[in-house]
Amino acid sequence: MAENEILEGAEVVYDDEAIMAAHREEKEATKKADFEKPFDENALLEVRHLRKCFPIKKSITGKTLQELIAVDDISFKLNAGETLGIVGESGCGKTTMGRTILKLHQPSGGQIIFDGKDISNYTNKEMRDIRTKMQIIFQDPYSSLPPRSTVGDIISEPVLVHGIVPKDQVKSYVLDLMDKCGLRDYYYERYPHEFSGGQRQRICIARALSVQPQLVVCDEPVSALDVSIQAQIINLLKSLQKSMNLTYLFISHDLSVVKFISDKIGVMYLGSMVEFGNKKDIFDNPLHPYTKALFSAIPEPNPDVKMNRIVLKGDIPSPANPPKGCLFHTRCPYATEKCKHVPPKYKEHEEGHFAACHLLNEE
Ligand SMILES: Nc1ncnc2c1ncn2[C@@H]1O[C@H](COP(=O)(O)OP(=O)(O)OP(=O)(O)O)[C@@H](O)[C@H]1O
Ligand code: SF4
Ligand SMILES: [Mg+2]
Repeated sequence: MAENEILEGAEVVYDDEAIMAAHREEKEATKKADFEKPFDENALLEVRHLRKCFPIKKSITGKTLQELIAVDDISFKLNAGETLGIVGESGCGKTTMGRTILKLHQPSGGQIIFDGKDISNYTNKEMRDIRTKMQIIFQDPYSSLPPRSTVGDIISEPVLVHGIVPKDQVKSYVLDLMDKCGLRDYYYERYPHEFSGGQRQRICIARALSVQPQLVVCDEPVSALDVSIQAQIINLLKSLQKSMNLTYLFISHDLSVVKFISDKIGVMYLGSMVEFGNKKDIFDNPLHPYTKALFSAIPEPNPDVKMNRIVLKGDIPSPANPPKGCLFHTRCPYATEKCKHVPPKYKEHEEGHFAACHLLNEE
């Protein structure tokens, strides 16, 4: 029994305030120790205890009265050429995490180590030099392209701004990239409205890759597209990854897509990473009850195999008012009294396979 659990008669009584104080203290100590560790030389991206809060209520003097923790205490490593798939229900913080890593949101805490440098406190000026190395592809290829520019101008602009190739080589460089992205050369003079969703997403991909990035955050890059087109875009991303040694942070609701493209998988719930590991470990041996429930909903292609779908009760709680204890306890089929009061520790259970659940710690 933990120090803050008091045995009264046969019943354990939890002192929530003391539990939270001890939890905060332990987290701070872990953070401090982790921040002092040397950076992993093999990782292109290392995220340590990343946090992003948004103020949601301010006083008339501008003081923050209430904040929403969109991303809380997330840590992972990603090597060059790998794909990390991020899954989780709507609102769990996937986009916020991706944007914070790219410094499109200023992190509220934690370290972002990109290519051996801690960029978490970089100014906009310092970021300018490495902006080209980190790009993003958005979900909606309709609103992310300027309607009055030609495809050629859209892809050429970042190449010219960042001086990727000499001016007289820009056109041939762009045409070559368009070819790699499956865009015909006569599209160069045409406008985005003339294209279908799949072709527009190819233009967005070409624009993102035009500056020769190392890391690309793909935020639901195929969910706005027809199912028949999705596979083509995923295959394109995969082949470009190979030829350009790209590292992807791939955000998606679609577990089948994530399974196909990822090397590692992170499962998020209410701003926290509840499970993380190699794809094979996560799919063959999911540890967290939330991951098990998510994966039980993947359609089974073999009609003879019965699906054992785990239906989660209740709605996702508001991140502005998260539950005490384990964030998942309000919906978890295995929740115990302890889960309602004591946050589980996020621990490595097998090599490279992390999860946060009391059930695992008790085994
Ligand atoms: N600029 C902002 N100000 C306040 N709250 C925000 C802001 N951006 C995101 N949030 C909140 O942060 C939480 C996480 O949002 P986010 O968009 O990252 O989730 P998501 O997992 O990407 O969801 P979806 O799958 O729907 O895209 C949500 O509760 C959202 O309302
Ligand atoms: S800690 Fe408890 S509530 Fe949370 S996932 Fe594990 S069993 Fe479920
Ligand atoms: Mg999102």
